Amino acid sequence: MDSRTAICPTWLANHFQNSGGSIPFSKYMNIVLNDPENGFYSKGKVSISKGGDFVTSPSLGNDFASLLAKQLASWLTKLLTQNPSLSRVSLVEFGAGEGDLLLDLLTELDSTYPELIPKLEVILVEINQSMIERQKNKLSTLAIEIPICWKSYEQLAKSPIIGVAVAHEVLDALPVERLAYSKGDIFRMAISLVNDSNTQYLRYSKMPINDDLLSSINQVTNDSKFDFPPPGLEDGWSTEWHISIEEWVQQVSASIDSGYVLVIDYALEAKRYYAKSRKTGTIISYRNQLATHDVLYQPGLRDITAHICLETLYFYSKKNRLNLIGQVKQGQALLALGLAQKIQSLRFYSNKNLSIALERREALLRLVDPTCLGEFRWIAFFKDFNNNSSKPISEKLLSSEFLEEPID
Ligand SMILES: C[S@@+](CC[C@H](N)C(=O)[O-])C[C@H]1O[C@@H](n2cnc3c(N)ncnc32)[C@H](O)[C@@H]1O
Repeated sequence: MDSRTAICPTWLANHFQNSGGSIPFSKYMNIVLNDPENGFYSKGKVSISKGGDFVTSPSLGNDFASLLAKQLASWLTKLLTQNPSLSRVSLVEFGAGEGDLLLDLLTELDSTYPELIPKLEVILVEINQSMIERQKNKLSTLAIEIPICWKSYEQLAKSPIIGVAVAHEVLDALPVERLAYSKGDIFRMAISLVNDSNTQYLRYSKMPINDDLLSSINQVTNDSKFDFPPPGLEDGWSTEWHISIEEWVQQVSASIDSGYVLVIDYALEAKRYYAKSRKTGTIISYRNQLATHDVLYQPGLRDITAHICLETLYFYSKKNRLNLIGQVKQGQALLALGLAQKIQSLRFYSNKNLSIALERREALLRLVDPTCLGEFRWIAFFKDFNNNSSKPISEKLLSSEFLEEPID
């Protein structure tokens, strides 16, 4: 287990006051990302861009949104055809960050699928107020007449939507538990506050596995039939358990009467996630494009992210009536939606605009690069409120362009 120590700022030390000096890792991760005044996202200092803390696919330019728009337009059209009396369908984005993806998606929908715009409403669900402010600023530049609002999960659950919901790089920001192996046992990693020569430090400690965590591990591993912990581990092996996914999936399912959910994120199958060779899990911290495994370093000033375990996501989705449509790596999804044609079309740029063409080409290649963003997973679900489980959902509703063979 990582035993490095890190200086603890006063605002964070205050969170340890009523906890006997130790908190579980999941609570630490939630505080350093989302504490209303000092969390990395709630402070609104995060910069998602090439020159910022980290890049995401939408921050590389608008080609990502323009390819994704094709899939979203197809799903929205299916829902409108299926429900002809419907006056509007909803496009929901969870955790929109700086709002780039939505801005580019709406611009693309307006130019390529204008017939959808009068039938569309847009809803953003974001837990950090300062990110909401940034999203409002970004979307105020949109020159399209379209209803846009921000809602909490609770508000959305009171009037569930028919539509399409997207969660791009949100699940990797949900707080995880860290588990470590030592002397034949798995234990829960905690963070303790220690005082040394008038300086406060953070240090890893141990906590027993509580009932919620144990029940989640048992349910997911029994259902998906994988060994946890895997055999043959060496002392010091650590990993993550996605304790927050259950609540997130419940909230999402409660928000939707009928429609599609697309999760795009770092994800691995359980057998790779929990391989004995993956000795320190997937958790990582970022700032200024620099990554470190030391997630106690500079709390509140860095992003912390962990991959999703696909089986855990599938288990809770099934439990909450989100039917898996399918999943592929981003590279394959974008090729199926026409990325190769976009690259070919760059030939028609004039010499004067060569640098723009080269920049777009580089961004397009990064989106499918298997060592980088191309490894992301696109995972789609469908929920049909009216459907009782004995009746199969029509193939037409489930068919999705991003899962098809790439276009030549
Ligand atoms: C890594 S950023 C991704 C931003 C954006 N989707 C992108 O790809 O550029 C995570 C975003 O999700 C928000 N967030 C974190 N937890 C959330 C939750 N449970 N529900 C909704 N948004 C959340 C953060 O405040 C932040 O805006």
